Amino acid sequence: MHAFLHHHAHQYYVLDDPQIPDAEYDRVFKLLQALEAQHPELLTPDSPTQRVIGAVMDGLSPVRHAIPMLSIRTETDTEASGAENFDARIRKELELADDAPPVEYVAELKFDGLAMSLRYENRILVQAATRGDGETGEDVTHNIRTIHQIPLKLPADAPPLLEVRGEVYMRRDEFEAMNERQREKIAAGAKGEKTFVNPRNAAAGAVRQLDSKIAAQRPLSFFAYSLGEVAEGVVFESHWQALQTLKSWGFPVSDGTRQARGATELVAYHRRIAAERDQLPFDIDGVVYKVSSFALQKRLGFVTREPRWAVAHKYPAQEQMTTVLAIDIQVGRTGKLTPVAKLAPVFVGGVTVTNATLHNEGEAQRKDVRVGDTVIVRRAGDVIPEVVGVVLEKRPDDVSEPLNIYKRLSGQCPECQSAIAKEEDEADWRCTGGLFCPAQRKQAILHFAQRRALEIEGLGDKLVDQLVDGGVIKTLPDLYRLGLTSLATLDRMAEKSAKNILAALEKSKQTTLNRFLYGLGIRQIGEATARDLAKHFGSLDAIMDATEEQLLEVNDVGPIVAHSLRTFFEQPHNREVMEQLRAVGITWEEGEPAVRAPQTLSGKTFVLTGTFPTLSRDQAKDMLEAAGAKVSGSVSKKTSYVVAGADAGSKLDKATELGVTVIDEAQMLALLASGAPSISSAA
Ligand code: IVH
Repeated sequence: MHAFLHHHAHQYYVLDDPQIPDAEYDRVFKLLQALEAQHPELLTPDSPTQRVIGAVMDGLSPVRHAIPMLSIRTETDTEASGAENFDARIRKELELADDAPPVEYVAELKFDGLAMSLRYENRILVQAATRGDGETGEDVTHNIRTIHQIPLKLPADAPPLLEVRGEVYMRRDEFEAMNERQREKIAAGAKGEKTFVNPRNAAAGAVRQLDSKIAAQRPLSFFAYSLGEVAEGVVFESHWQALQTLKSWGFPVSDGTRQARGATELVAYHRRIAAERDQLPFDIDGVVYKVSSFALQKRLGFVTREPRWAVAHKYPAQEQMTTVLAIDIQVGRTGKLTPVAKLAPVFVGGVTVTNATLHNEGEAQRKDVRVGDTVIVRRAGDVIPEVVGVVLEKRPDDVSEPLNIYKRLSGQCPECQSAIAKEEDEADWRCTGGLFCPAQRKQAILHFAQRRALEIEGLGDKLVDQLVDGGVIKTLPDLYRLGLTSLATLDRMAEKSAKNILAALEKSKQTTLNRFLYGLGIRQIGEATARDLAKHFGSLDAIMDATEEQLLEVNDVGPIVAHSLRTFFEQPHNREVMEQLRAVGITWEEGEPAVRAPQTLSGKTFVLTGTFPTLSRDQAKDMLEAAGAKVSGSVSKKTSYVVAGADAGSKLDKATELGVTVIDEAQMLALLASGAPSISSAA
C-alpha cells in the first residue's frame, strides 16, 4: 500500500501526470489510515499518511513558508449530514449551549486547482510559491506573474507585508480551447506536445513550467481564500472581513463565497452549489466551511496539520475507475456509428454508469481503449459519461485488438446491414441505409414531413415517436398506408385530428421533384442542391441512374455530393423505397433534362449597365451565367466586358477610364453564340 500511494502521489504531485482517479487514491489512503488505526504497530514515520507528499522539481528553487500551508479535513459524507456533523463538532468544541445562537461561518467553493501563496513586500509581489509539503514549496513567481488576475502591486492602504493564499485554476472553456490548440499542434506534427486530461492537471503543469513563456500561453486564473504572514498591527475580526478587504485590494474573491449562520444555512449552501456545479465555469470538487471569527478560530486550534475550524465537504466524484467489458457500435438518428464502452457498473457523478461514449473510431484509437482495459470514466452533470483515458499499468495480457469499426462490422450497419462509409475528412463512420435503417427512421420521417420537403402538416415528433415505437411505421411508404383506425387508437388522437393527418398525407402526395429529393434526407443534399439536381436531370430515374461524372456536371455539385448521391442510390433498399413511394401515389411533374450550354465564357467577368433593346438585365445575366461567365456589379481592371445599353451611367465612365472593352447587346449575343468576340472596335 505504501509503494502504491507513494507512486501515485509522485505521479500526481511531482509529475502532474496522474494514472488513477483521485477517488481511487483516496480510497486506498483511507484503507491504510483505517489499518494503522487498528494496528498502531504498523504505523511507520515514512507512511504516506504521515506527510503530505510533494517534492521540489529540478530547476525550481525551494521556498520555506513563513506560516505553514495547511490542508483541510475532508468530510467524506457527501450528503447534507456532512454539514450538520461539522456544525455539531464545532459547537461541542466551543462548549456552546443548545440554545446558544448559531455559529457564523463562511461557505466557499472548493476549487479544483492548486494552492498558491503570494508574498507582497512593500506592496509589490515578490514571491509566489506552491504548497509543496506544506512547509516548503517551490518558487514559481515567474509563472504566476503571467496571471493577469493577480495584482503585481497593491494600493497604498495595503500593509507593507502581506501573504495571500488561494487557488490557481483553469476555466473549463479555456481548458477546452487550449486542448484544441494542442490537438492542432500535434496534428501538424509538433514534437513533445500533449493534451491534458483535466483543467487541474493543465493548471498544475503550467504553474510548474520552467519556462514562463509556456506558462503564459496557458490560460490560468486565481481566487484568493486566506491569509498567510501579515505585517504586525494588521487586525481582522473575521475571515469574512479579511476576504472583503482582499477584494478591495484587487484580489479576485469568488462571488460564490457566502456568509452562513449555523448548520441550516450550510446545508442549503451545499445543496444550492450541488445544483449549480455544472454551470460553473470551472471545476470544483466540493465546498469549504470555515468558522468566520478569528477569535473562535484561535480557540478551536489545530489537529496536526489541519485546522479544527474548517472542513471540506465533498461532492460525489465525477471520475472513477472501472473495466471495459465490451465495445459496442451504436447507430444514431443520423446514421452516425458511435463506439460505446460497456463498463462494469460504477458509481460516478451521482449515478451508476454502465456505458460511456468513445465518440468515434479516431478517439477510441487515440485513447487506445480496448476490451479488458481499466479506464477512467467521467460523468459531469447530465453530460453523457465518457472514457477519459486508459490506466495502461493495469492492461491485461489478453486485451483486445485496437478498435477497427469497419473490420468489426464487416462493413455493414449493425441495424440494417447496409454498407457503412466514412468520408476522407470525417471522423465518423455512417450507415448509408438512410431511410431503410430502423435506427434512422424517426429522423428520416420528420425530415421527409417538414414544411420545405413534403409538408405533411400535423406530423410532429410526438406522433412520429408513437408511430415508430409502436411498429406502425417502418419506412416512409408506410406513412401513406395509415388508416383511420390505426391513427385514432394512438394516444391523444381524436378522430378529427386523425382525419386531418390523413388529409395532409393525401395532399402531400402531389409535390415537386426538388422537394421530394430534399425530403429523402440524403447526406449533403440541401434544398439548393436538390433544386439544381431536379432542374438539371428533370426526372428521378435520371438522377438515380446518373454516374458520378454526370452528377459532377450539375452546378455546385462537387465530388462529395456526387459520391453521397451515388452511395445512396446504390443501396437496393433505397431504390425499393423509391418504388414504393411512387406506388403509394407520390407524384410530381417531371421535366426535360436541361441541356447544359457549353461553358464558352467561363473565366470572363461581365458588368451590365443601362437599358438593353430586347433583353431585360436579368435575362442577360442568366444567359451569361449559363455560358459560365461571372456577372459582377462593379467595374474593375479585371472586368472582361462592360455591356452598355441606353442611359448607361457611371459604370460606363469607369470602363472607359480603366480601358475595359465596352460592348452592346448585339455584340454580347454574338459573343454568346460564338464564344469569341466579334468586335471590330470598342464602342
Ligand atoms: S482553505 C487552512 N479554501 O483545498 C485552510 N482551501 O486541503 C487552508 N482549496 O490545498 C485552505 N478551495 O488548495 C481553502 N475555498 C478554499 C479552497 C481550498 C480549494 C484547496 C487548497 C488546499 C486544499 C485543502
